[in-house]
Formats: sequence, C-alpha cells, structure tokens
Amino acid sequence: MSAPVKAFVIGHPIAHSRSPLIHGTWLETYGIAGSYEAIDVAPGALPDFIVALRAGAFAGGNVTIPHKETVFALCDEVDPLARRIGAVNTLVSRQGKVRGTNTDYLGFLGNLDQEAPGWDGARELAIVLGAGGAARAILVALAERGFSRIAILNRTADKARALADEMGPQFSGHALSGFADLAPRASLLVNTSSIGMHGSRFEDLPLDALPDTALVTDIVYTPLQTPLLAEARARKLRTVDGLGMLLHQAVPGFEAWFGTRPEVTAQLRERIEATLEH
Ligand code: ATR
Repeated sequence: MSAPVKAFVIGHPIAHSRSPLIHGTWLETYGIAGSYEAIDVAPGALPDFIVALRAGAFAGGNVTIPHKETVFALCDEVDPLARRIGAVNTLVSRQGKVRGTNTDYLGFLGNLDQEAPGWDGARELAIVLGAGGAARAILVALAERGFSRIAILNRTADKARALADEMGPQFSGHALSGFADLAPRASLLVNTSSIGMHGSRFEDLPLDALPDTALVTDIVYTPLQTPLLAEARARKLRTVDGLGMLLHQAVPGFEAWFGTRPEVTAQLRERIEATLEH
C-alpha cells in the first residue's frame, strides 16, 4: 500500500485557518487515508519549506498570509491565471517540481454558480468595492465570465485607477462616491475590501440606486451577515455570503492532491459556519 498523501496550509500566524477543518471533513467523507495540517512557517523559513515540498515531503498545500506573493518566486512554475492575479494560494508538488496556482478565482465563481444560478446572465456592469490583493482574483474572474464593464471603487481612488489600468480596457477606477452614478446599470455588487469585518460598515453607499434584480455578494465572512448584506436583504436584493467562496476555493487543491473532486455540501457549510463569529 502506498503511504498516505500529505497536504498542508502554511501561514504566519496560522491558528485561525479553517482549511484543516474543510479538508479534514472531505478526507473523512471520502474515506481517504491522507492528512492536511496547518503549519506555521515564518517568512524566513519559507524557502526551506519549498525545498522540502519539492523533494516530496507533501503532495502540496495552501498558502496564506503573509506568503501569497513571496511564494511566487519560489515556485518552479506559476500558471497564467495566478500570474495575472499576482498571488499564489495553492501549491502542487509533482516530479520534483512545485507548481503554483490561484484558486480564489474558481472559489468566487463556484460559489455564485452554486448559490445564485444565472447570476451572470446580465453582464453589462459589475461594481467591485476595494482594490487590494483580494480584489484581483475577483476582477480576473469577472473578466473571464464576460462582464463588459467592471468598475473598481475604492476609498483611495488612485489605487482603483492604477489597478483598472493594469487589468485592461473593460476596467475603470473610481472613488466610493462614484457608486450612486454607476449603480443603476449594475447587475452585480461585490465587496472585496475589509469593510464589514467584525461589523464595520460603508458610509454613504446608497444601495437603493441598484436595480431590483442586482445581486450583492461579500467576500468577508466574519461575520457571515455583514452590514452590507443585511442592508441589501432589507432592500429585497438577492445576496450571497462569503463562506461559499472559502469552501469552493478549496476544491481544486483537494482534487489535485488527493485525486477526488470534493463537493461543497450543506453539511460542510454548517460545520464551518459553526466555527464563525455571528
Ligand atoms: P486584501 O489583500 O485583503 O485585499 P488590502 O490589500 O490591505 O487587503 O486591501 C484592503 C482593501 O480594503 C483596500 O481596498 C482598502 O482601501 P484603501 O486602498 O483605500 O486602503 C479597503 N479598506 C480597508 N479599510 C477601509 C475603510 N475603513 N474604508 C474603506 N475602505 C477600506
């Protein structure tokens, strides 16, 4: 019998990560004799960790803060999507090579496809709040899905404009105050900024300017019901919370390391939800 397959999540700190519970649940569900462990790797120790990974100590794993950008240069190959996003969150070690990819992109799409089928039917305009690292995977995903205009709104408008210039011709950058003018044509509003975490809220974001058919989604999942989602629901707009993106981004990694494509089920969601701030 071959040795159990081993995978990891590395970060610093790492204690808060829900990934061991997600992958542990799938290992149990599918009866796979593998392991998935959280390992605290300080920035200085990352190169040595990658050497061990290349030598076959693990099948691969996830990478989180603060390593998502620095791990890039340590990979033998980085796929084009992760290159465009500018961050690697998943590693696969095969035949002495470490390959980096970014699964946040698929996590975002997988969540909306499952929770709000048809969400991408109208693709005239999507509004994305925030211009940081987390925005990038979502911007690439929306462009790939064929949105003809993607407006990036950010507290620091210059950052939004610089990111829009980098991403391509269908992107534009604006201050948050641009929301009221853009909203009437938007079919999708996505928050990628850290606003909403632990209850913080956007000031002056007039959601009533959105069409009744618009979908509002947040990538923040602590708490699950952010003030933005609560307000959208109060206005009878469709909403999707951020937990599904966390679950769906884990799918491609699990499949690559353990050879089974796992499903994001209601039971998995409940199990992870029970560990979140309410
Ligand atoms: P991440 O990698 O998680 O995206 P980040 O790169 O620090 O983190 O980006 C955080 C995002 O949240 C940025 O768009 C930031 O806006 P600025 O570019 O103006 O800093 C946004 N953000 C954080 N705190 C905010 C606040 N109090 N009001 C509005 N936007 C905020």
